[in-house]
Amino acid sequence: MKKISSQFYKKRTPIVAMSYKNYLNKPEEVGLLVEEIILGLKESKTEFMECFLFPSMGTIETVARFCKGSNLGFGAQNIAPQKNGAYTGEFSIESLIALGGRYVELGHFERKTLFFETNQQIKEKIHLTLSESMIPVLCIGETIKCEGQMLEEILMEQLKELLSEINEEKVVNVILAYEPGWAIGQAKPASIAHIHRSHTCIRRCCERLFTKEIAEHIRIIYGGSVSLTEVSEIVDHQEVDGVFVGRFGHEVNQFLEIIQRVSQMKEE
Ligand code: PGA
Repeated sequence: MKKISSQFYKKRTPIVAMSYKNYLNKPEEVGLLVEEIILGLKESKTEFMECFLFPSMGTIETVARFCKGSNLGFGAQNIAPQKNGAYTGEFSIESLIALGGRYVELGHFERKTLFFETNQQIKEKIHLTLSESMIPVLCIGETIKCEGQMLEEILMEQLKELLSEINEEKVVNVILAYEPGWAIGQAKPASIAHIHRSHTCIRRCCERLFTKEIAEHIRIIYGGSVSLTEVSEIVDHQEVDGVFVGRFGHEVNQFLEIIQRVSQMKEE
């Protein structure tokens, strides 16, 4: 497959992220997997990329220990809306910072549908994350499959509501994860054409909300049933800066191979 040449591409570091959701929850088991991933990364030529994990909360400390000094980053799948206080059962960004994590996953479809997280809460968490110089990985996307004008309106509304109060210097640190709800937990991702059109649309929305230059700096990754089978085609587009992997990356070799494929497509 051909390599991508875009005048803007070089400015944006490609990403492969993965969430273990609540699939893998035993610290020792996850520690071994992370150790293997780190070893695999060392042997690959992927230093120019950004790779990170969102472990299940109960394994985050173990993951932090293994990731220390490695090329693999990590983050939290959720945080409390404030640094500290009366938020029983929540995970504080203070803990994540103390453990050396950098990323905070926000607005995931499952958080919204299973735990009724609102845009107001997501917004608070984005602001907190940015104010602590951490990186929000903000999930957006339509719940029911749609295209064209309707899709653009939905995406624009989400972006406007979640990002419009953030200043321009900070917004470039947000990573947008395009994750259409209907493509999560499926056998296959959204079609390649749909992914590419949606990413182009998100970039256009960011241009309208901010400036062209700012929009060009924001990284947009795709998530929703990403697997080895389609990953090269998914990232074979200048507006796709990487992937957000779920189930099909939980097996270490699959994850490492996905990283390899993305690196081949996005090589400098
Ligand atoms: P999935 O998860 O690949 O298992 O569908 C992706 C996600 O929810 O980010």
